[in-house]
Amino acid sequence: MPKTDMASGYNKLGNEVTAQKTDWREQIDLSTPHPLLKPKDPRYYNLLSPNQWPDPSYLPSFRSTYEAYISAMSTLSTEFTSLIAESLGLPCTAFDRFFDLDQQHKLKIVKYPDTGSIPSGNTALSQGVGPHKDSMLTSYLLQVAPHTGLQAQNLAGEWIDCPPKLGTFVVAIGQGLEALTHGVCKSTTHRVLSPQAGLGPRFSIPFFQGVSYDATFESVDIPLEVLNMRDERMKARGGRIDDVEFTFTKGKWGHLGEATLTNRVKSHPDVGERWYPDILSKIRAEQAAAEKAEALDSGSAVISAEEPVKGVKESAPGIRAH
Ligand SMILES: [Fe+2]
Repeated sequence: MPKTDMASGYNKLGNEVTAQKTDWREQIDLSTPHPLLKPKDPRYYNLLSPNQWPDPSYLPSFRSTYEAYISAMSTLSTEFTSLIAESLGLPCTAFDRFFDLDQQHKLKIVKYPDTGSIPSGNTALSQGVGPHKDSMLTSYLLQVAPHTGLQAQNLAGEWIDCPPKLGTFVVAIGQGLEALTHGVCKSTTHRVLSPQAGLGPRFSIPFFQGVSYDATFESVDIPLEVLNMRDERMKARGGRIDDVEFTFTKGKWGHLGEATLTNRVKSHPDVGERWYPDILSKIRAEQAAAEKAEALDSGSAVISAEEPVKGVKESAPGIRAH
């Protein structure tokens, strides 16, 4: 992956970082195909990467199978978000203006080796993927091995197992949808625990529904009664306990693509070192400042996406492009 500034392709085992810890997984990262960039395109258009296909002499039907799957999932995710819009009291077309004509979606094939594969004594390699939120609108995770390990964090801060169920997807809300809905649709904090030694690898195929990288942080017009329900719910719960910071905040970024590219560099520091050293040094400065603040404050790690009601302290953020 560091050979390209597109931050896509094959990512080798233990080469990715979430919440400042190494993820013990490997993956192929692909997306809806796009034409090559033009010289004056914004830098975040690098996210519209051409695919690096596996050699067809080894996997002759891989590309056609992949393209059929991402096309079907594109249709399904558009239908699903139109239903979300209706559930919020909006027209089913409410999110349409945030999609490009040739909207990019992404898809990964991920392998999580069991803990027996971790070099002995290396306790730092204990996470399949650390706590994080996906970036875009919605994600659809197909779990294709019988292993447990995927967990989501509920509003009370408890980690809940999401075991595989045949014929179903696990759907996660991304930060883009939380931003567009004024925090009504909460982004899903989730993580994967590595399978126990001897169980063999866990495989998953997540599909990430995209949204235009040119989108600004303008929101849809959520009906007042829905906003009131959001506030009453959070008030009744006393806030949200969340291990991961919500970063798609209005005013911090010009376009959604800038936030996404930054998060991508955070997950792939090897790509950042080679192609985006300015972004990476900014990320490292922010992380150093957060660590310093954490050292000064040993309070509880409670974060709310809206008004923090309980004692608040930011933990190391685990934000991923997806
Ligand atoms: Fe994720």
